[in-house]
Amino acid sequence: MSGITNEKITSQLAIELEHKFGAHNYHPLPVVLAKGEGVFVWDVEGKRYYDFLSAYSAVNQGHCHPKIINALIEQAKVLTLTSRAFYNDVLGVYEKYVTEYFGFDKVLPMNSGAEADETAMKLTRKWAYMKKGIPENEAKIVVCNGNFHGRTITIISASNDPDSFAGFGPFTPGFIKIAYNDVNALEEILKSDPNIAGFLVEPIQGEAGVFVPDEGYLKKTSELCKKYNVLFIADEVQTGIARTGKLLACDHENVKPDILILGKALSGGVLPISAVLANDDIMLCIKPGEHGSTFGGNPLAAKVAVAALEVIREEKLSEKAEYLGNILRNRLRNIKSDMVELVRGKGLLNAIVIKPRNGKEAWDVCLRLRDNGLLAKPTHQHIIRFAPPLVITEEQINECADIIEKTILEF
Ligand SMILES: Cc1ncc(COP(=O)(O)O)c(C=O)c1O
Repeated sequence: MSGITNEKITSQLAIELEHKFGAHNYHPLPVVLAKGEGVFVWDVEGKRYYDFLSAYSAVNQGHCHPKIINALIEQAKVLTLTSRAFYNDVLGVYEKYVTEYFGFDKVLPMNSGAEADETAMKLTRKWAYMKKGIPENEAKIVVCNGNFHGRTITIISASNDPDSFAGFGPFTPGFIKIAYNDVNALEEILKSDPNIAGFLVEPIQGEAGVFVPDEGYLKKTSELCKKYNVLFIADEVQTGIARTGKLLACDHENVKPDILILGKALSGGVLPISAVLANDDIMLCIKPGEHGSTFGGNPLAAKVAVAALEVIREEKLSEKAEYLGNILRNRLRNIKSDMVELVRGKGLLNAIVIKPRNGKEAWDVCLRLRDNGLLAKPTHQHIIRFAPPLVITEEQINECADIIEKTILEF
C-alpha cells in the first residue's frame, strides 16, 4: 500500500485503508465520497447521490457553499490562528454578529459540539456556586433519558445508552436522569432537590431517532426551570440553525433558553465551530484563565461562521425547511408499505421507523437507497433519519420522496 495518492484511490481501496489504519469506532455505509456540491455528493467512481444526512445536520447550507468557502479562502490567506493569548481583528466582529443574531449578551466560542456541551455544564456549575448559592461540589444537572450530547467522559456520564457509556467508567458524578417528554418527572425532581443547577435538554432528540416531544413540553419545562431558579440549557447542536423550520427548535414554542449550545451548521460543515450563548449574569461567572481552547474563536472560524449564518438568512433556509418538511413527511406517510411503521420530525429533521421484513432491516434499506442514489444512515437499528441540506428544492424533495418510496416498495 505504499505510494498511494488520491488519484489512485478506488472505493474498495479507500475502505480497506480506513479499516486497516483507522480506529474502528464507526460503521460507515459502504460508499466513498470524493466531492460535494449543494444537495449532492459524488463517490470516487463519479456516481451522484442526494445527501439525506447532511453530516448529521452540519451541512444545512449545502456542501461547499460558495459564499462560505470564499470566506474560508480569503481569511485563510491572511490569518488563521492567533490563540486567545492575543486579540484578533475578526473574533469581536463575529461575537457581535452571533450574539445579536440569537439575542444573547455574550458568546463563548469552542470547536466541537461536545466541547460546547462541556462548556455549558461548567458554566452551569459555576453559576450554581456563584449565583444560586449551591454548596461547593453539590451542583447537579438534570438530563433526559435517550439524550445525546457527545462523547467525552463527562457527557457519557449523563447518557443512559450502554453503547455510549459501557466500559468507559468511572463516570463524572452530578447528573440526574429523567424521562424525556415528561413534565411531571422534571417537576418532581426540581421540587425534591434544591441543589439542581440546570436542566440540559435537546428540543428534539436527534441521535435517539428524531424524537419530537409533545407540544408545550419546552414551554412548560422552561417555566418550571424559572420557578425553581434552575438554568434551562438547550442543546441545539443538531436542531439549531434552521434545521427544524425555525432558526432554533426552541422558537417553535417561543422559549428562550438561559444557555444555548450550537455547533454543526454554525460553519455550514466547513470547519468544526461551536458556541455557547448566555447573558452576562451567567456568562461572566467564568473568569479569565478558567476555560478555553487553542482553536476556539480563531479568525478562520469567526469569518466562516458569519458567512454561514448570513446564508441561513439570505436564502431563507428556516422557511424552506418548514415548507419542504411538510411535503416530505406527507409523501413518506403515503408510502403504502407496512415496513414504514412511523414517520416523524419537524422541518427537515425527519425519521422513519422501519419494521423489519423478511429479515431486512433499516441498514438494508439504506444500502438499497444508496444504490438508488440517496444516502441516509440508520440510527438505533430500526430508524432512518432523513435530513437533506436545506438548500434542496421542492422538485428535488419530490424526486427524493420518489426514490425512497420506490426503494421501500422493492422489499
Ligand atoms: C444534540 C447534540 N449535541 C452534541 C453533539 C456532539 O457534537 P460533536 O460531534 O460535534 O461533538 C451532537 C452530535 O451529533 C448532537 O446531536
